[in-house]
Amino acid sequence: MRLGRIVRLLMDHATVVASGTKIAEEIGTSRSEVWRLIQQLRGLGVDVAGHSATGYRLRAVPDLLLPEMIAPLVKGTVFSPPDARNDIKNIHHYYKVGSTNSEAMSAAAENAPEGSVFVAEEQLAGRGRGAHSWHSARSAGIYCSVILRPPIPPSDALLLSLAAGLAVRAAVIEVMPVAVDLKWPNDVLIDGKKFCGILTEMNAEATRVRHLVIGIGINVNQAKFPAELRDIATSLRLETGTEWSRVELCSALLKSLDREYRALINDGPAARGSVLKRFEENSSSARGHKVRVEDENGIQGITEGLDARGFLQVRTADGLRTVLSGTVRTMS
Ligand code: BTN
Repeated sequence: MRLGRIVRLLMDHATVVASGTKIAEEIGTSRSEVWRLIQQLRGLGVDVAGHSATGYRLRAVPDLLLPEMIAPLVKGTVFSPPDARNDIKNIHHYYKVGSTNSEAMSAAAENAPEGSVFVAEEQLAGRGRGAHSWHSARSAGIYCSVILRPPIPPSDALLLSLAAGLAVRAAVIEVMPVAVDLKWPNDVLIDGKKFCGILTEMNAEATRVRHLVIGIGINVNQAKFPAELRDIATSLRLETGTEWSRVELCSALLKSLDREYRALINDGPAARGSVLKRFEENSSSARGHKVRVEDENGIQGITEGLDARGFLQVRTADGLRTVLSGTVRTMS
């Protein structure tokens, strides 16, 4: 929190040097504590010039997912509280955390408001679907989880999760020229390699969702991956040859997620139909693709699009099958 305030202060005084005394007064601490916090920021890669005798100045705007950076860009969405004086309150930023999904699920159980956002620079125990983990290198990706409280039955949660994939796709193509492919249910690919995964978790009664957490991991500026991921994972940087602003992409993501969410809860059946149609249109593997489903007794067949609830249909030798879970491997 205090690190974020210092960065904001330095950004507000971008062209001048901010004295240690002024920063200390503004955040209500001592000059020596400001020095300690500046050292901490430098350790995190923020390029701050100067020292306590001369004052401090930012050499470059840092690409940290700080509430102070993101909140002004997502005003008017479900991720921004209506009271403008509190606009950073909804966004929780961690330099290091186990998993933003775990933080969000615990906070939701403690009644955190809808629209709360949990972002991290680094996750030590990033979680994927099933028993998978999510590689979460420091300040290279976007690791973001949001709390929603949609008035829907649990059977509609998959639609929301598919809509989150559409939101990722919209945000990425808004920011950079790249062809983005969706893979059912929740992978986002470029040229057959995965750069984004989505983990949707919920707490529900049989007829209504109490709360739902959508966790999104996007590989943005990774220059390489561990050997075991190299053939299947990619980053936006590796695909486009340049680095991208995580702050810009994260706010574009929250805005497109807000659009998808509002449409789904306000526009009824038309919005549901639109999610299914757009998902199929933007997925090269949802129709006419040979697949094998791991964990579902290894069924194999040709994909035939999504059913009304968003489940993948596969034409097998034994007839049309609905895939409820498991990893879908494409075979052609
Ligand atoms: C998958 O592809 O299996 C889903 C990966 C989801 C990763 C994100 S990163 C932010 C959030 N926190 C987590 O622990 N997981 C999700």
